[in-house]
Amino acid sequence: MKIAYDEALPITARHDDIAAAIRDHQVVVVAGETGSGKTTQLPKIAYELGRRSIAHTQPRRIAARSVAKRIADECDVELGAEVGYAVRFDDRTSADTAIRLVTDGLLLAEVHGDRRLERYDTIIIDEAHERSLSIDFLLGYLKQLLPRRPDLKVVITSATIDVERFAEMFDAPVIEVSGRTYPVEIRYRPLAESDAGDMLDGIADAIAELPRDGDILVFLSGEREIRDAAEFLAGKKLPRTEILPLYGRLAAGDQQKIFSDHPGRRIVLATNVAETSLTVPGIRFVIDPGFARVSRFSQRLKVQRLPIEPISQASAAQRAGRCGRVADGICIRLYAEEDFEGRPEFTDPEIQRTNLASVLLQMASLDLGAIKDFPFLDPPDSRAVTDGLNLLYELGALGTHQSGAQRLTAIGRSMATLPTDPRLGRMLLAADRLGCLADVLVIVSAMSIQDPRERPLDHQQAADEKHKRFVEPDSDFLSWLTLWKYIREQRDNLSSSAFRRMCRDEYLHYLRIREWHDVHSQLRRTAKDLKLKPGNPGADPDLVHQALLTGLLSHVGLRDLDGREFLGARQAKFMIFPGSGLAKKPPRVVMVGELVETSRLWGRTAAKIHPEWVEDVGEHLVNRSYSEPHWSRKRGAVMARERVLLYGIPIIVDRLVQYGRVD
Ligand code: CDP
Ligand code: MG
Repeated sequence: MKIAYDEALPITARHDDIAAAIRDHQVVVVAGETGSGKTTQLPKIAYELGRRSIAHTQPRRIAARSVAKRIADECDVELGAEVGYAVRFDDRTSADTAIRLVTDGLLLAEVHGDRRLERYDTIIIDEAHERSLSIDFLLGYLKQLLPRRPDLKVVITSATIDVERFAEMFDAPVIEVSGRTYPVEIRYRPLAESDAGDMLDGIADAIAELPRDGDILVFLSGEREIRDAAEFLAGKKLPRTEILPLYGRLAAGDQQKIFSDHPGRRIVLATNVAETSLTVPGIRFVIDPGFARVSRFSQRLKVQRLPIEPISQASAAQRAGRCGRVADGICIRLYAEEDFEGRPEFTDPEIQRTNLASVLLQMASLDLGAIKDFPFLDPPDSRAVTDGLNLLYELGALGTHQSGAQRLTAIGRSMATLPTDPRLGRMLLAADRLGCLADVLVIVSAMSIQDPRERPLDHQQAADEKHKRFVEPDSDFLSWLTLWKYIREQRDNLSSSAFRRMCRDEYLHYLRIREWHDVHSQLRRTAKDLKLKPGNPGADPDLVHQALLTGLLSHVGLRDLDGREFLGARQAKFMIFPGSGLAKKPPRVVMVGELVETSRLWGRTAAKIHPEWVEDVGEHLVNRSYSEPHWSRKRGAVMARERVLLYGIPIIVDRLVQYGRVD
């Protein structure tokens, strides 16, 4: 393999220091601005030192592929020979592969079959500042492993954010690679309104304001936003301008286009992949609307969501920096300077944004040991850990219930493969088994978004009138299905502008409906990837509710005989939210999608259920007690009265059962 370095890359100036540090230390931290050459050059330095089995991790598949290709090109070898990559469903490596690009998730999965990571002599954890769960798990795992693998070398790279944390964790030297960057002028051009249409106009105005002679990088929050913007800009017929989308799910060939030479001007519409993972060459200008999709646990909905949020100051700086690499640049931010000043400095690590139950589930499935012993960079709060363990036990994912002993059940193992919130994942698995997955996919996606039915204060009555059609008397979950069907029909029959108008007239929030669709198609795709069978909608509602109940056992309530208040799990008292179709005539036993605490505790999205379902689905949770054993001549057996409690709720009382069998 031919190893040569580009003198123009900032990292080349520190080549000898880095090589020496790797030789003398087990762990080295390399920090430097994006584009300084860390990702492409570090594995070559390790190779030069005689390392022949290097794992080089990337947060994203798209980066693993393109970095492997780039290094292979630089070293003048075939991709898949000495330099290769392996990501889920796609392995381009061979026996000769010395530099192996992998996603950090994949390396973590390899721990399972290779506890001491024996197949590697070197591990480069790239982009550690991203602080995804996978990265935090890997860092913790390596921390434990390193004393037992003295021959293993680790290089951690990071943008210049919070570098000392990594150095302290491993007692490692830090080598800073000073990027040679050009000044970037920041211009603030806040949008008049914050809707999607205005954003597109804002982008068009920004393009018009910029000089015509340089490539532009526009940051958008997702694939859908990119497609919308591409269509919108195509309509503008900008002369000698090529528009290129860039996102993770794009076909590999299309991703590669950003590295090709081109005449005229290029506008790249990219997700966060272009923020640090991928360096789009030749960018002179950046347009930054200031948003990104962030996976976050919603305390209110108690589910993991993917809301679009304002980015942190550090992210904004990274984005701006993308246009100062070859010459002076201009970055137009589509928000106000005061807005920027008010933003958080850094994006919080994923472990702080994730439901602890899913963290625990993943740790258990990866066999990482008890959470309390794991050397986390930021250990989670112990209270949250207990809650998480309880929830996993409730969902049937953990077989034992002693904190620390995380024995995963078969269900738990399947749940860990689903990228959804554990409660929702549990529902999907049950639905698959019960043959009602198509319906439950719609409902579960609805539970991950905000209710698209709007009730503006000054038009409540009109809105309720419009929404009445969708109400199913015994189940708000079924109302979701009715609404979904209606929306699908309308969407198929109306032009897109007529559909938007319909939404407005009928008090439906267009963007949330779109979000609902997006979440649904994504979940459906994932379900299919995992060999679940969505089938067709229209299953028996009882089955749908039983599937939902598997994820909602601690959201069951029993109504006072003569009141409206429900006794919930662990003595909580709640009422059904006034907007619910069940509020007027509440049934005796319900399950609710969420429990929301405001002036009092409210159960939102409710459905009537049968106590026997609870007994059945919650078999591992219920307590049974017996009283008044007596001889029944009629039955010829000793009979007793049975009482079934779920989290202290007497789901069944006074059921006559044969005592002999119980005893
Ligand atoms: O990792 P870091 O951000 O420090 O830099 P890098 O990704 O190693 O990029 C170093 C240089 O290689 C940049 O100028 C990139 O534009 C270039 N590069 C490229 O042209 N094609 C690739 N597939 C990857 C990097
Ligand atoms: Mg990099």
